[in-house]
Amino acid sequence: MRELSAETPAFLASIDMHPDQTDSGAFIKAFLSEMDAGLAGDPSSLKMIPAYVSVEGAPQDGVPVIAIDAGGTNLRVALVEFQNGVPVVLREEKSPMPGSRGTVSAEAFFSELADDVLPFTEASDRIGFCFSYPATIFPDGDGQVICLTKEVRVSGIEGRMIGRSLLRKLREKGVKKDLSLTLLNDTAASLLGGATVLGLDRTGGLSGLILGTGCNTCYAERGARIKKLHGAKNMIVNCESGNFSRAFRGRADEMVDAASENPGAYRFEKMLSGVYLGRVVTSEAQLAAGAGLLSAAFRKPEPLTAPELDDFLRGRENRVSALCTEADRIVLQTLVDAAFERAAKLVCANVLALCLHCDGGKTAARPFSVVAEGSTFYNSLLLRDKLDACLKTVAEGQYGRHIVFCRAEDATLAGSAFAALTR
Ligand code: BGC
Repeated sequence: MRELSAETPAFLASIDMHPDQTDSGAFIKAFLSEMDAGLAGDPSSLKMIPAYVSVEGAPQDGVPVIAIDAGGTNLRVALVEFQNGVPVVLREEKSPMPGSRGTVSAEAFFSELADDVLPFTEASDRIGFCFSYPATIFPDGDGQVICLTKEVRVSGIEGRMIGRSLLRKLREKGVKKDLSLTLLNDTAASLLGGATVLGLDRTGGLSGLILGTGCNTCYAERGARIKKLHGAKNMIVNCESGNFSRAFRGRADEMVDAASENPGAYRFEKMLSGVYLGRVVTSEAQLAAGAGLLSAAFRKPEPLTAPELDDFLRGRENRVSALCTEADRIVLQTLVDAAFERAAKLVCANVLALCLHCDGGKTAARPFSVVAEGSTFYNSLLLRDKLDACLKTVAEGQYGRHIVFCRAEDATLAGSAFAALTR
């Protein structure tokens, strides 16, 4: 009788999906060189977008700010005020992100957004807008959409100025007063919010990581190193690391990319973020069924989601367990474990590259601090332990660098308010 579970690792290697095939050293080298190219304005899969906001500011107390958090799934609007240097959320509303449940037009997107912001405009004339998609940021605080990611669909939004479009809609809906707006990426908001709320020591280096529906990183950069700007001040740089194109990819990654909204783009994000991880395992399972390692039920399953796979690992009965024979269970568990193992290795290599670029985290007393946010980071059963193990063996063991992950309550809202008050 075939020992299917024993054959699974070799099968994964045969389709280039085994975590051992990710070489952290090669990844880091490629990532660092793409970072340098992006900072110099040369062609690179890392856009290295200057944020024009910095951790060095001090937000004014007692000034309410409208903080908007436009994420992959939810849209949150809140009123945030700093009191004795501490951000306080005074009021908050949450609704589904327009475009996350089917295509909408750019006009409808900004109109829905304005409807949600409108009730807050009585209380403040400043907006801090955390936008979780690639956007070029301008020194005046506005930003222009580069593209959408995470399978969100808003037709005609590429190239649109976000702040101007929202403010125009607010005027059309009757807002008379002048509003100022500061746009920033969610990684930047998370970094700023975390650094303020937690009072992080900045000497070892600071970074922001989102691993939720999508994935991305940013870090606090010295102005002199942003070669594509002249005489830039120190500021946060958004790597848009989800678009990194030089990670080692396998056949399941190619299948996921080909079936996505934006084939060829955001290949790194499609290897590990929440909206794609389930699809990676589904594609592997399809290939495994073709190779006789899983039963026929896996030949063409509806894409399995990361939370469903998580529940399956926790032993809960669901759609995934219902597909499985007894033999399938062990093979599938191995596939899921391997997918998270590789995801952890990739996250570790990504933040380690940032730490090395900043020459940070040289001692445990002055670690490279990563303010982390996102459902995949915090809710997955396997990711954190695997990531911690990777930090120990690779970051500390091989590179002598100390990296810590931190979490702050409402970091993105706090960071958006911080940016609006300090830019
Ligand atoms: C976007 C990034 C964002 C990340 C996390 C990615 O899809 O391109 O801008 O920071 O998701 O939300």
